[in-house]
Amino acid sequence: MPATVVVGTQWGDEGKGKFTDLLARDMDVVVRYQGGHNAGHTLVVEGQTFKLQLVPSGVLYSHVTPMIGNGVVIDPRVLIEEMDRLTEAGVDCGRLKISGNAHLIFPYHQTLDVVAERHLGRNKLGTTKRGIGPAYADKAARVGLRVQDLLDPKIFREKLGVVLHEKNPLLAKVYNRLPFDLDTVADEYLEECGPRLAPHIADTVGLLHDSLEAGQNVLFEGAQAMFLDLDHGTYPFVTSSNPVAGGACVGAGIGPRHIDRVIGVTKAYISRVGSGPFPSELTDEIGDHLVDVGREYGTNTKRRRRCGWLDTVMLRQAVRVNSLSDLAITKLDVLDALDPIRVCVAYEVDGERRTSMPYHQSEIHRAVPIYEELPGWRTDLSKVGDRSELPQAAEDYLCFIEEQAGVPATLVGVGPGRDQFITFSPVP
Ligand code: GDP
Ligand code: IMO
Ligand code: MG
Repeated sequence: MPATVVVGTQWGDEGKGKFTDLLARDMDVVVRYQGGHNAGHTLVVEGQTFKLQLVPSGVLYSHVTPMIGNGVVIDPRVLIEEMDRLTEAGVDCGRLKISGNAHLIFPYHQTLDVVAERHLGRNKLGTTKRGIGPAYADKAARVGLRVQDLLDPKIFREKLGVVLHEKNPLLAKVYNRLPFDLDTVADEYLEECGPRLAPHIADTVGLLHDSLEAGQNVLFEGAQAMFLDLDHGTYPFVTSSNPVAGGACVGAGIGPRHIDRVIGVTKAYISRVGSGPFPSELTDEIGDHLVDVGREYGTNTKRRRRCGWLDTVMLRQAVRVNSLSDLAITKLDVLDALDPIRVCVAYEVDGERRTSMPYHQSEIHRAVPIYEELPGWRTDLSKVGDRSELPQAAEDYLCFIEEQAGVPATLVGVGPGRDQFITFSPVP
């Protein structure tokens, strides 16, 4: 019953999509377990670029069953658009399975996301404004509508009526926004979205266990990342779900004993989009260089990502919380021209050296990075296909990360393409 989880170890956009796609070659099922269309996973295959938001990255292989688990929040209009885009590009989405228990995102969630951010002013979280937080809030408050409700128009209208009874006065009286009309929303969801998604709606928990029992290979594709996790991230500057590896159990319906490999996708430096602390952030020309060479602009929102040096305090915390078995290090090639290269190995907090993550939020805000300097390699890595071809300085940089993290780096990305990677250490 081999199950693998792919999880981001930073603040997202580490390259989870690329490595999920790469690993999916040997998988039977690929499952998204949390998040929604706040995610943007980019795959580059034979020169063609695919930007996925909700559809799992295994979809490009015809032998893979892509699944959207119960832990995901789905805007059905966005999912249908994404499926149409993929179909136009020649990708068959017919095998996609969607959990009937996944919650739906509605237009009022998106509006509430936007107005809540505006209300926060300079304290805003910098959300993707996709309605993710408000949809998860409704799920927790037990007033959310689920994908399965699309199959039952009477119940759908009843539930929507109850929700709008509360949302509309909130929107109108607190935020001075127009109310949503029940019939307009219900008609769009029930008449346009429901019939399109109906053939894909399934008992994904049952299907998943059938696959595991048949000895098939299953991969869980995390969205967002460890430090955007609602419980383990830099709260409140986080998303509203649990991207950590444990989230795969809840968001897909498996027990922890099924998981035998957890791959932490780690960018060779760090990026963050949105607000929140970032101890190793670079606001100088090196930061600009990382943005330019790494093309660090949001896959969907196009926002400029903040960039900084790799932080192994964060990495060690990610190893612990996710039980990482190994790392997939991405974008090593983006560091090609930099010399020296710095790595944050500890923080100084109030005069004290700290090598593990402070739990107190204000300490993270005050943390001053302590760096070690390593020589750069000043060589184009984009065509390196084997560990033996790596310049010594690049080899040393990767070994340094392994040593700091305490787990091996099995895969290393040297370019966006599916074939631009090397296998570094053996799989543990
Ligand atoms: P995800 O959200 O974790 O899947 O990552 P994104 O797709 O949002 O952002 C990662 C970006 O880096 C994408 O544009 C990828 O095509 C690109 N990428 C992934 N791996 C590599 C790599 O090893 N080198 C370079 N130069 N780009 C990469
Ligand atoms: P992938 O899967 C990077 C960030 C937002 C914001 C915070 C909360 O592509 O790595 P939300 O809309 O989720 O309520 O926003 O989380 N964020 C991401 N940052 N990559 C992502 O996804 C993200 N998804 C959400 O920028 O700071
Ligand atoms: Mg992304």
